[in-house]
Amino acid sequence: MIPCVHRPMKSYLPDFPHMSRDPRLGRCPYEGYQRGWGIEFGRLREQIEQDSLYQRAVEVSLGRSLLPADKRYNLYLLLRFFLPRIAFGHVIEFGVHRAGNAIFMAYVMKAIAPGARLYALDTFAGMPEPDASVDVHKSGDFDDLDLEEVRQCAASVGLDNIIFCQGLFEKTTESALMEAGAIALAHIDCDLRSAVAFAYETARPFMVPGGYLVFDDATVSSCIGAAEAVEEYVIRRDGLHSEQVFPHYVFRAPGYR
Ligand SMILES: C[S@@+](CC[C@H](N)C(=O)[O-])C[C@H]1O[C@@H](n2cnc3c(N)ncnc32)[C@H](O)[C@@H]1O
Repeated sequence: MIPCVHRPMKSYLPDFPHMSRDPRLGRCPYEGYQRGWGIEFGRLREQIEQDSLYQRAVEVSLGRSLLPADKRYNLYLLLRFFLPRIAFGHVIEFGVHRAGNAIFMAYVMKAIAPGARLYALDTFAGMPEPDASVDVHKSGDFDDLDLEEVRQCAASVGLDNIIFCQGLFEKTTESALMEAGAIALAHIDCDLRSAVAFAYETARPFMVPGGYLVFDDATVSSCIGAAEAVEEYVIRRDGLHSEQVFPHYVFRAPGYR
């Protein structure tokens, strides 16, 4: 049911012949332009929509994800064209809800990254207690799901590469990361300041050199707490420079050359 493709696929990414492809300040501006500019101002939206693997992955996850299309396009580009360029690692998603995006990513991975697993971490029972001084979400938001139904949905399309880890991140992350060993992409989509900070802090030591740290919420109007966590730890303390600010923040883990 899921096509398995072991060779790199033809790229439709835009080119900027006058630009250097060299790393700068720990990230690659050229590649950031390819994805961010390509989606916002180029033709990538229509080109991705015509890509049959993208179409099938959307079909199996349809209606389950809260992610806007531009963010899904960008994750697709990362999985399909950029992960094969760095060391092998698994994918982890902090904040899964009804697993729309997890199922989407796992479907793409199953087709093009044999052996890669997706670790999907959530309470699967809604938001924990927020910090009301900076988070606008309330405890219990996103509790409209049944984990058994989510598991069945993934199984029904042949996805045996998702590991569901139920509970607070504080309880589940360490064992998930120990099992994974190496992470090539961390999708941090958990809205709250403390959750975003915890996800980043724990995933960081497991990232392969130049691995992708994608922050869904830090530029979203409902998540000033998430923005604060990125500003405080990722930018100010660790001094990382973003490879993309559109459609979401993307940073490269240390070691990218
Ligand atoms: C916006 S939703 C995730 C959306 C999902 N990625 C999608 O594409 O549909 C945020 C999720 O983060 C989870 N979450 C937030 N803080 C958490 C924590 N400390 N531990 C576990 N889950 C947490 C919530 O339960 C919620 O389901």
